[in-house]
Amino acid sequence: MNKATAVANPNIAFIKYWGKADEALNLPANPSLSMNLAGLTTVTTVEFRPGQPSDAVTIDGQLVAGEARERVVTHLDRVREMAGVEQRAWVASRNDFPAGTGLASSSSAFAALSLAASRAAGLTLDEAALSRLARLASGSACRSVPGGFALWEGGADGDSYARQVAPPSHWALVDVMAVVSREHKGVGSQAGHALAPTSLFHAARLAAVPELLATVRAAIGARDLAALGQATEIDALAMHGVMMTSRSPLLYWLPATLVVMQAVRSGRQGGLAAYFTLDAGPNVHCICAAEDAGRLVERLRNLPGVLDVLVSGPGAGVRLVDYHLF
Ligand code: PMV
Repeated sequence: MNKATAVANPNIAFIKYWGKADEALNLPANPSLSMNLAGLTTVTTVEFRPGQPSDAVTIDGQLVAGEARERVVTHLDRVREMAGVEQRAWVASRNDFPAGTGLASSSSAFAALSLAASRAAGLTLDEAALSRLARLASGSACRSVPGGFALWEGGADGDSYARQVAPPSHWALVDVMAVVSREHKGVGSQAGHALAPTSLFHAARLAAVPELLATVRAAIGARDLAALGQATEIDALAMHGVMMTSRSPLLYWLPATLVVMQAVRSGRQGGLAAYFTLDAGPNVHCICAAEDAGRLVERLRNLPGVLDVLVSGPGAGVRLVDYHLF
């Protein structure tokens, strides 16, 4: 078999990965902890083809060139080297959500590519090896490999991968995503990570992470939304504080971003328990209990500047499927 298809969900981090200890190997400056999002999926098919002159990559039906293609080709090269395969590949990938807008599309993209490409090349990698492989393409992708809630502690190359801390069934948390922009962001996270150390707040955030991480881990264990949410909001704001004070500064927020954050806070005062977090983009992830998701969706849908509201519970890990995109 030289063709395989994998499905992955993106993940949302409660404690963020921002800044690298090693840029080439994607080793993080700090540990991070996330939840996979069942409601959003990337499907990727890879086929290694004898006689094909170069790798061809389509994303959402479009043949891609430039940097987007290069990242995929570099990852295929890693897989080819591991498997001793020479052939070039045809790759097709589809997202059912807007990519490159802070909904963590690179996490599901590279988790799915890692599994599809390694299987198509004849490799059977265990979860740790697959997570490590995905990390080399995009750090956050290593957390989409295990199912449910995943911790990526850092460490050296060989043991820097994500592990499950709780399965998806452990806690029916919901991420209600307020989409305020579908535009591809101007500065991607690759460039953003490199800027982190130029912020006067980077070291302060890193010093605060161990305690926040311990709080989030304990909150997941105890299914304590208030403890999880408070720590999650603080770390998201700390990360955006680092971004905004980097040289050059990164300002991902739009006016509607702030409108959503304020609505989450005022809703909380009115008894709707929800907490926000954001990745490297203007869209806002609002975390709440399953029974409150309907009310939160209604509240966010009517806000000015909110284009769409997506809803997701905890998702499974990356998996193979028996259909193909071509
Ligand atoms: O995996 P990368 O290099 O795209 O970095 C993602 C970083 C954030 O999404 C902003 C935070 C995180 O931990 O997911």
